[in-house]
Amino acid sequence: MQRFIIQGGEELHGEVWISGAKNSALPTLAAALLTEEPVILHRIPAVKDIQTMVQLLRSIGATVEVEQGAVRVQAQQILVPEAPYDLVKTMRASSLVLGPLVARCGRARVSLPGGCAIGARPINLHVSGLEQLGARITQSHGYIEAVAPDGLAGKSIHFDRITVTGTEDLMMAAVLARGTTILNNAAREPEVKDLAELLVKMGARIEGAGTSTIRIEGVQTLRGAEHTIIPDRIEAGTFLLAAAITGGDVRVKGCEPSHLEALLAKLSQVGVMVDRPEENTLRVRGANLRSADVTTEEHPGFPTDLQAQYMALMTQAEGISIITETIFENRFMHAPELMRMGANIRLEGRQAIVAGPRQLSGAEVMSSDLRASASLVLAGLVARGRTVVDRIYHLDRGYEKIEKKLAALGARIQRV
Ligand code: EPU
Repeated sequence: MQRFIIQGGEELHGEVWISGAKNSALPTLAAALLTEEPVILHRIPAVKDIQTMVQLLRSIGATVEVEQGAVRVQAQQILVPEAPYDLVKTMRASSLVLGPLVARCGRARVSLPGGCAIGARPINLHVSGLEQLGARITQSHGYIEAVAPDGLAGKSIHFDRITVTGTEDLMMAAVLARGTTILNNAAREPEVKDLAELLVKMGARIEGAGTSTIRIEGVQTLRGAEHTIIPDRIEAGTFLLAAAITGGDVRVKGCEPSHLEALLAKLSQVGVMVDRPEENTLRVRGANLRSADVTTEEHPGFPTDLQAQYMALMTQAEGISIITETIFENRFMHAPELMRMGANIRLEGRQAIVAGPRQLSGAEVMSSDLRASASLVLAGLVARGRTVVDRIYHLDRGYEKIEKKLAALGARIQRV
């Protein structure tokens, strides 16, 4: 099993280029199932979750060509409208094919994902939304099966709670439904808007994506399209936090600052200097860090996907910070590992109370999920001595060449 060995204590300096957003790449790839014609996507990051999605699209019957960040998908025929357990268990976002498959061919069979390290993560809201659009859904042998032999019909749907992939899944189902669908209490994440932009290029009629009410007029068929996905705001945020924690001076290039407002406000509150020397570039310089509380929220609030990395930063800040996780019920797996490195953290239900600053010392630590692993890497960068981060396959799911990008900034990090 591969691991990272990090020798801590180096400031980061230089520039780093941000990849395309994993969480935009996944739904836009799934959207290619909605048309017989080719869909060409640019800036697709070379990460494990994308390989899994490509494998899934191929198993469904699509031809997929991958070439240096561009992916061409053509789903001329849907041969097997199914997402098998083997793929779903390694990547929960596989449930994103449910909506497109029912919309395109009136049938889908998708394995239920089951729990994961950060929480139970049910897909009941995807399922009930599809039922409201007229699909008949049954569950057996760990799979849900959806059928809509006469197609789907538009409806006004209210999400009980905000769900990102649920919003995306239903948007993809509704674009080919008869009539009008309104998604109320929809997710406002930039990735939802990006998916809508691709769908509109394919001929879909969508208004309001990026707000909490999305209106979709169904059309009969969609055509092929070409689209460049948005930069990865979580990768950008991770590098901003890496520069802040090591006290360096880093230019984060090719990012979209408007997608990072909650983090940028928080960085300025804790004393980190961030400016925008040019469009799509953020320059971050570390300083004396002060503590500040944070509560994760749906976009445009502070993203849960940066909570773990922010916690690593707060171990180095003067004072007490209270970090409240509201999106997932079990997303503090990094905290005990940070404590093993010397951090002073107390967990109380959905809150982590961090007292700093504490000199961290390198240790052997274990990754539990993608963002928790990033938090341990950040802690390793600032710790005294050698940190070994085990099970880095979690990082490979969502960060493109993270160790190479960090090493280019002066970090002493090695994959073994
Ligand atoms: N939820 C339900 N029922 C549902 C769907 C969601 O109860 O049918 C609950 C979840 O259990 C969770 C909350 O609603 O407590 C929000 O979950 P959401 O559905 O928004 O999460 P997701 O769509 O499965 C996406 C990202 C995650 C990110 C979350 C929150 C993708 C592929 N994944 O997941 O990204 O944390 O939104 O922003 O877009 C990551 O990249 O590391 C990652 C986990």
